[in-house]
Amino acid sequence: MLVEKNVPLQSCNTFGIVAKALSLVRITSEADIAAVLQDPALQALPKFILGGGSNIVLTGDVKPLVLKVEIMGKRLAGETARDWIVEAGAGESWHELVSWTLQNGFPGLENLALIPGTVGASPVQNIGAYGVELQDRFDSLDAVDLTTGQPFTLNAAQCAFGYRDSVFKHASSGAAGFGLAGKALITRVRFLLPKAWKPVLGYADIDKKMLLRKVDVPDALQIYEWICEIRRAKLPDPKVIGNAGSFFKNPTVSPEQCADIIQRDPKIVYYQLADGSVKLAAGWLIDACGWKGKSIGNAGVYDKQALVLVNRGGSANPVTGGEVMTLAKAIQTSVYERFGLRLEPEPVVV
Ligand code: EPU
Repeated sequence: MLVEKNVPLQSCNTFGIVAKALSLVRITSEADIAAVLQDPALQALPKFILGGGSNIVLTGDVKPLVLKVEIMGKRLAGETARDWIVEAGAGESWHELVSWTLQNGFPGLENLALIPGTVGASPVQNIGAYGVELQDRFDSLDAVDLTTGQPFTLNAAQCAFGYRDSVFKHASSGAAGFGLAGKALITRVRFLLPKAWKPVLGYADIDKKMLLRKVDVPDALQIYEWICEIRRAKLPDPKVIGNAGSFFKNPTVSPEQCADIIQRDPKIVYYQLADGSVKLAAGWLIDACGWKGKSIGNAGVYDKQALVLVNRGGSANPVTGGEVMTLAKAIQTSVYERFGLRLEPEPVVV
């Protein structure tokens, strides 16, 4: 096991923020975790788990020991009467896994194409797009307890998935009472991909593609290609313009609150949820406050989707974590002043 010192992280976070890991160990297997936990100089250190760096804002050098997850492998791990069970290592690229499942005849993840990040990060924030959330396709995951070194497996209920949320986003003292943030390293994830596959439709952007291409019942590959086109048209490619995807969660309000906002702003975009509450489009709220295309320092609001904050300085003069957070706070203040709603950031601030 090699402990690397002062490792530049600019290429390890999709914002392209400059920061260093003071110490970093690459985790390619469970044995590497065991080696860290058995090493007297490392075992008690605070640890930070780094996947694809697509959902983090680095506000300085990372002092905890960085465990960079590079556990690879994709395979058909089994099947039930209803589903294929596909397993992938936590270090695999999420999008490459989606492509691989389709090429190998296991559709079901196509609506989640082109989401940046790794397989291991996907359950942490229960990634979701175009009507499918990770929890809809999740079987179980393997992880290692970073205090005891014990491996364990969690099913969907034990992951406590919510909207962009799971047990891995909460500290044990948090509101959920039980949390694994920073305490466990996800090594492998298994997905349930339905043998009787059906397309998940009903999103305006997909409906438009169906009309345009004159397709009534698309196959999984068509949906995959459309989703890639839709995302490329409205979301910045982190390889070209640094960003961390949606920066805020879409807030949920009561029907009464929503009715009140509609009265003042009839154009507001909202979605009715099954439990009676209403989800508001945070991108619309930010846009309505006039933020689209604006910047503070090198942190900007993307001009095609106000929910995404971007690095306007490129790799030569990159945005700092401080600039991103200053812009985020200014947006939160305007949205609060106009709508009385507190936007909650999606990425983890390190
Ligand atoms: N809108 C505006 N102005 C904007 C942005 C959005 O008016 O600048 C309005 C539009 O009317 C649009 C609506 O808001 O129809 C919703 O926008 P969009 O369809 O782009 O979806 P979203 O709610 O902004 C969510 C996810 C995305 C996911 C898309 C598609 C969150 C926080 N974000 O975005 O996830 O790709 O739906 O399902 O839930 C991510 O998490 O990083 C991410 C990109």
